[in-house]
Amino acid sequence: MKKLAILGGNGMLGSDLRIAAVASGWTVQIYDLPDFQITNSRQLEKAIESCDCVVNCAAYTAVDKAETEPELCEAVNALAVGELGRIAATAGKYVIHISTDFVFGDLADSPQSETDLTNPLSVYGRTKLHGEQLLAASGCHHAIIRIEWTYGRHGNNFISKILALAAERESLKVISDQTGAPTATSDVARAILCFLDNKPDGLYHFAADGFASRYEVAEFIVRQSQLETSVLPCLSDAFPTPAVRPKNSKFNCKKIDRILSFKRPRWQDTLADFINAIKSQTPK
Ligand SMILES: NC(=O)c1ccc[n+]([C@@H]2O[C@H](COP(=O)([O-])OP(=O)(O)OC[C@H]3O[C@@H](n4cnc5c(N)ncnc54)[C@H](OP(=O)(O)O)[C@@H]3O)[C@@H](O)[C@H]2O)c1
Repeated sequence: MKKLAILGGNGMLGSDLRIAAVASGWTVQIYDLPDFQITNSRQLEKAIESCDCVVNCAAYTAVDKAETEPELCEAVNALAVGELGRIAATAGKYVIHISTDFVFGDLADSPQSETDLTNPLSVYGRTKLHGEQLLAASGCHHAIIRIEWTYGRHGNNFISKILALAAERESLKVISDQTGAPTATSDVARAILCFLDNKPDGLYHFAADGFASRYEVAEFIVRQSQLETSVLPCLSDAFPTPAVRPKNSKFNCKKIDRILSFKRPRWQDTLADFINAIKSQTPK
């Protein structure tokens, strides 16, 4: 039986990955806080020893708080990832590491490719980029998958926030100058399984097909939920946050399409299914 270690396996992505990996025949071991600390080398060694492949979903993901905790964010998102690479290189294990659109910073307006220049605008983005660089320098057999705007059943995210706000307010203002693709963690999990089958090296971008502004996504959620809430567009400046977000989170996914055994779904299709599933489970 193939053994998979998921670091950060109780988080939003890790939870959906565990379900998908078990369904495809992997024996899965979860490593997460409070028992597992990715910055502890001894614990990392034990986790890597225990498996055939490792997926690193563990990260310091509190994007705004990171601005006041840069050392902790760097330790988790960068230094620990370098150490993971060093240990995996010695042990000869395959590592899949998850990264983010926050490594980009609006140098271009077109969909970003893996070869495009990075320019992170926040502590979180800088530490995630440094983690990618340290893993690549470690020489271990690895792939890095950058993802964006993810949502799932096991965590708070933009979709769950808009659903909650729309249910209690008559109108909502939503940012119209940030563009990307809402992407289900269940689809990211399917992509990771393709990587575990083929073990490709290198850097890849993964997102649902198509693009929309946050405002357009919020409108879609409200319409799909058959709520009366009116959604009004505004600019990012209307909601200043400690961490600056990229305005262009559009990914070019041509490279990963050659690895995947499925066609990336349109963001509207997966999001509609997600909202319908929530509606069908909500007591009337
Ligand atoms: N969510 C998004 O929109 C998005 C977008 C792009 C990329 N990503 C990337 O996707 C990956 C998965 O993120 P997610 O959305 O699943 O986030 P998440 O729900 O916050 O999951 C991260 C997991 O890592 C754990 N963790 C944090 N610090 C740790 C440490 N020092 N040692 C061990 N485990 C630790 C967290 O535990 P606690 O919950 O106890 O802190 C949590 O279980 C991350 O690499 C993230 O950067 C996410």
